[in-house]
Amino acid sequence: MSDTVTDRDNKRVIVALDVAGAEAAFGLLEELDRDMCRVKVGKQLFTSCGPELVKGIVNRGFDVFLDLKFHDIPNTVAGAVKAAADLGVWMVNIHASGGRAMMEAAANALANDGNQSPLLIGVTVLTSLSSDDLAEIGINSTAEDQVKRLASLSDNCGLDGVVCSAAETAMLRPLLPESFCLVTPGIRRPEDAVGDQKRVVGPSEAIRNGSTYLVVGRPITQAASPRESLAAFYEAVSGVM
Ligand code: C5P
Repeated sequence: MSDTVTDRDNKRVIVALDVAGAEAAFGLLEELDRDMCRVKVGKQLFTSCGPELVKGIVNRGFDVFLDLKFHDIPNTVAGAVKAAADLGVWMVNIHASGGRAMMEAAANALANDGNQSPLLIGVTVLTSLSSDDLAEIGINSTAEDQVKRLASLSDNCGLDGVVCSAAETAMLRPLLPESFCLVTPGIRRPEDAVGDQKRVVGPSEAIRNGSTYLVVGRPITQAASPRESLAAFYEAVSGVM
């Protein structure tokens, strides 16, 4: 497990770099302070710009959450997380529904890597899926029970945390060790546009309920001043951190 878990209180906002290309991504980084936030590179930006962009962001001193949600046979996922570690990322994620062997293979690949390993995070149930959607693919638990099951399994397989809805943190926190990270998107202050998020949670409520890291995209990236918007998120959580 990376020692960055211990310093998590300093930079609990992860800014989602959901932009189309390198120019926009680096333009945004100019507006952000690497000592105040971490950044998330997802499938769109990675697919268009590739590992060179990730290395460029890492070289600018930012901690990168590589959000590629790997899901494959154990050997392939172990190789993929190892390749992510070689890029110098701070956090990487895999689908917990890939099962125990896949998760353990990924955790072992990082543990045996020798270098400073990224945090390994599981994706439980995508928040876009309802209990009906799960039934249609043969999963007959409620979405809530499946989230609990996969979060506990992730912990049991040696992962460092899970991505979950901030609305699920109060339910999950008592089931998991204090050091287990809950990484939560869907965060909005009252004055922020909700956009396409279905259920949003305020930053201070998310922290109070047990979120470790807050993933925030458009309220920061589309603000007139991303720097000021980021500062406003910290201000919002200052009493609860
Ligand atoms: O712009 P916004 O703050 O809504 O961005 C949230 C980020 O978190 C996006 O990158 C989105 O893909 C990601 N995310 C999410 N909900 C999930 C998992 C990831 O919003 N369940």
